[in-house]
Amino acid sequence: MKGVILAGGLGTRLAPCTLVTNKHLLPVYDRPMIYYPIQTLIHAGITDILIVTGGHSAGDFLKLLGNGNAFGLKHLNYTYQEGEGGIADALSLAEYFVGDDRMCVILGDNLIEGNIRAAADAYRAQERGAKILLKEVPDAQRFGVVELVDGKVKRIIEKPKDPPSNLAVTGIYFYDAEVFQLISKLAPSDRGELEITDVNNMYLERGELTHDILHGWWTDAGTFNSLRRATNLVAESGANKERL
Ligand code: G1P
Repeated sequence: MKGVILAGGLGTRLAPCTLVTNKHLLPVYDRPMIYYPIQTLIHAGITDILIVTGGHSAGDFLKLLGNGNAFGLKHLNYTYQEGEGGIADALSLAEYFVGDDRMCVILGDNLIEGNIRAAADAYRAQERGAKILLKEVPDAQRFGVVELVDGKVKRIIEKPKDPPSNLAVTGIYFYDAEVFQLISKLAPSDRGELEITDVNNMYLERGELTHDILHGWWTDAGTFNSLRRATNLVAESGANKERL
């Protein structure tokens, strides 16, 4: 299984800190944000990794990470997203890298306390389709949110004003190579982006979407509040001690 880290975008919610650099290069406690998703993939046994970057300071990823020696990797792969096409657009750039394989996609600003190895193993055993990881949150309107009926996902709504549950769709997704066909059928949303939630709803309509609940804390880090939360969680939980 391949790993794809989406680390593009202009990070406008973190301006002015992101005016001249990429959000994923900003510090979360004692290391750059991008270190955490790399470590999440490696902890799950996924070491063939593509970083999709874009926006400012793309070259700094290469300077910072090189071939991934600091993580015990022999090689890291990079590609560049032109413009601001959204998460699904960024993922479409991974097609050449993933080929017919399966993939774990992680948003570069998503941090977790635990491990996704069990979810990755469960997905490997799944015949086809996609798997999403859900987490209970107090502020569901900030995320993609699932509506569950009898424990089954009925639909996913992106940033609902009135969330149907408190279960957010985390930025960690498992897909088969079919995802690239699905992305090619997407139309831009109201915010002008190709939405990953639309991709997940397509898998859902095909009856090919499974989900797991993520254990341990999870946070994004794309706003000042969540960046502070991420920093505190890493510092206080000692999760950083396990990393590097
Ligand atoms: C994105 C996705 C959203 C998901 C979130 C997780 O939101 O669109 O569905 O819940 O990541 O971090 P964004 O951070 O782009 O607003």
